[in-house]
Amino acid sequence: MKFNLFSLAAFPILLLLNLTGSQSQTVNNSYAVIPQPTTLKPAAGKFLLYKNTVIISPANSVFNAATAELKSMTGHCSATAKTTGKIILKTGNSALPKGGYILSVKNGSVIITSNTAEGAFYAVSTLKQLIGAPLYAGHPLNTLHVPCVEITDAPRFEWRGMHLDVSRHFFDIAYLEKMIDRMALYKFNKFHLHLTDDQGWRIEIKKYPELTAQGAWRMLNHQDSTCLALAKDNPDYALPEKHFRMIDGIKKYGGFYTQEEIKGLISYAQARSIEIIPEIDMPGHMMAATALLPWLTSNGKGGQGKGFSEPLCPCKETTYTFAENVFTEIAALFPSQYIHLGADEVEKSSWKNVPECEALMKKEGLKNINELQSYFVHRMERFLISKNKKMIGWDEILDGGISKTATMMYWRTWVKDAPKHAAEKGNEIIMAPGEYCYFDAQQDVNSLQKVYQFDPLGFQLSKAGQKLIKGVQSCTWTETIPSEQRLEYMIFPRMMAMSEIAWSSTPADWKNFENRVVMQLPMLDAMHINYRFMDLKGFSLNSVFTDTASLRISNPIPAFKIHYTTNGSLPLLSSPVFNERIQVSRPVQFKLAAFNTTGKRGEVYTVNYKKQTSAEPTKVKDLQKGLNFSYYPHGYKAVKEINEKDLEVQKVTSAIEIPIEKTADQFATRHKGYFYAEQTGVYTFFLRSDDGSVLKMDGNVLVDNDGMHFATEKSAQIALKKGYHTFELLFLEGGGGYTLKLEVQDPSGKRGDVNAKDFYR
Ligand code: ACM
Repeated sequence: MKFNLFSLAAFPILLLLNLTGSQSQTVNNSYAVIPQPTTLKPAAGKFLLYKNTVIISPANSVFNAATAELKSMTGHCSATAKTTGKIILKTGNSALPKGGYILSVKNGSVIITSNTAEGAFYAVSTLKQLIGAPLYAGHPLNTLHVPCVEITDAPRFEWRGMHLDVSRHFFDIAYLEKMIDRMALYKFNKFHLHLTDDQGWRIEIKKYPELTAQGAWRMLNHQDSTCLALAKDNPDYALPEKHFRMIDGIKKYGGFYTQEEIKGLISYAQARSIEIIPEIDMPGHMMAATALLPWLTSNGKGGQGKGFSEPLCPCKETTYTFAENVFTEIAALFPSQYIHLGADEVEKSSWKNVPECEALMKKEGLKNINELQSYFVHRMERFLISKNKKMIGWDEILDGGISKTATMMYWRTWVKDAPKHAAEKGNEIIMAPGEYCYFDAQQDVNSLQKVYQFDPLGFQLSKAGQKLIKGVQSCTWTETIPSEQRLEYMIFPRMMAMSEIAWSSTPADWKNFENRVVMQLPMLDAMHINYRFMDLKGFSLNSVFTDTASLRISNPIPAFKIHYTTNGSLPLLSSPVFNERIQVSRPVQFKLAAFNTTGKRGEVYTVNYKKQTSAEPTKVKDLQKGLNFSYYPHGYKAVKEINEKDLEVQKVTSAIEIPIEKTADQFATRHKGYFYAEQTGVYTFFLRSDDGSVLKMDGNVLVDNDGMHFATEKSAQIALKKGYHTFELLFLEGGGGYTLKLEVQDPSGKRGDVNAKDFYR
């Protein structure tokens, strides 16, 4: 049965207040440009684009790509005008930086000034955003409108990259082209393709046809099983049927790109000012190849090693013959100056006690297996240089000694000083720290803002070090991203935040950015992008009331209506609309979701309200400020596994902090004492952690955020009487850098960090 606001009698458990009034802010949505241009001066009036709008570009100019885009825009108009305005492309302003442009839109003319092909192209990207959704309507429109404006603009970083792992799950050329279009709209200029990994080899190598004939196809693996299990509730996790083939009579998953297809993709990208950067990840992550050519590994068998797969053996000449043959074809195929060698997560222990390795280490004076890895990387870099290429490697290339000429791609946020060390050695750096830049990280209420907070010039870099930052990049690893729909959900709108970090020299404040994202959503809808809605906020999924409570929701996208149910069914467009607040006086479960203007549903939030009597405070005397802190440098999978025999440090902390200078890669902590409730009422605790955490209050689990995961926030409410309440926060870090943050919202609605004034022991 559906519930609506007029059927109160059927649902006596709720007292509903359907308050009028809108939360929407008035916004001028004519100038929602992302990334934010350097200067943008709005002006009155608009330029009208018609089928016969004249485009004037110098003959044989570098502006062909921009002109082609403009022609496709006028081609989108069905009407002609008697006297149309003109679009003029010109060079001229020598002060314009590389990639910069001036865009001047007046009633009768659009003038694009730039000295480079890409600058003019970016001006057109801006123009497209100024037109917005109508440009992407599925049918021609009479005319398109551009609001008058004066824009000067130039990129902050020369490297504005997006990465896609096409090995774990495969994405075809048609979809890569779609991604390129979208990257171009947001002024990205590098598309890093992770072409090989343990789970599949995706690029034709003529010398080793088996790499794709067999290595591109697999039986379903455990990552596929995870996806298929998730697909039961969310069809976006299903593996697309188009990526299955009968190989030797068996149905297998996979796919690969022929060299001809890649040539086509490269020109498609070039026409949009984007360069494809190939990565052939070695010596680790090579199982797709070593399963077919096991002699490439030290044990001659390949397979899974201790932590990662068996790597190539750096001590056999046959390895270099193979690697050089592969990179000879890659270097000839890809015109990019840079080639990515990978070199991350290598199971170097596989090289211990191998006679060839012992001999090589002795001959070359290599002290350990890190130096052995550097030997491999340096030798491959020399080979790439011989092909006129520059090498990029993940930040592990620093470990055994980095060459002077390598470019380091930083990903391990937890190795905090890696950028500083690389910069001190004079190496160029591309910043892709996982904490901010990994779009495979599951999303929550904070994830978009997290990207926007990314400061690529932080990370202990000196002024001189900052000059070595070539740029930034997002990475999307696809172990659990099998479909285009799921990929779009993971990268939109986060790639919009990344584009602003990459491009804008003076990024706007978060609110301003968030507003522009909201304004662009109709355009994303018109482009049929499966973006993730920004989260509804201001409530806890685990809510309580003592007498009555108000469920209020802060909706960042005012144009999207919220619908809800109270009978356990999923909300539909036909479910009642949530208007500002609902008064709750009986236990109830709400399922609520925002719906966009095309009727698509966003995340479903299940909000449970339980009745509670306020917990009595604990009678304690002579308390001191602070919490008792314990540190356990041991790897656990869940906080309930924490074992007192692993206890190594005990201290007193004033708040939720981890006072250990250099924590182990894996560890757990406990903060224990009392929380002082200053007033009687309902408190909401918000616990954000990477990895797991559990908050216990008055001896019971209040927030359960346990397990291994990226930074995720969970919250719960509790009714407390004024006074001291026992408090225990357990936390574990499973490797890869940690986050631990606890906030509280007091009964008056004020939210902030739980801090020293709240804690006693
Ligand atoms: C990586 O995420 N292994 C570079």
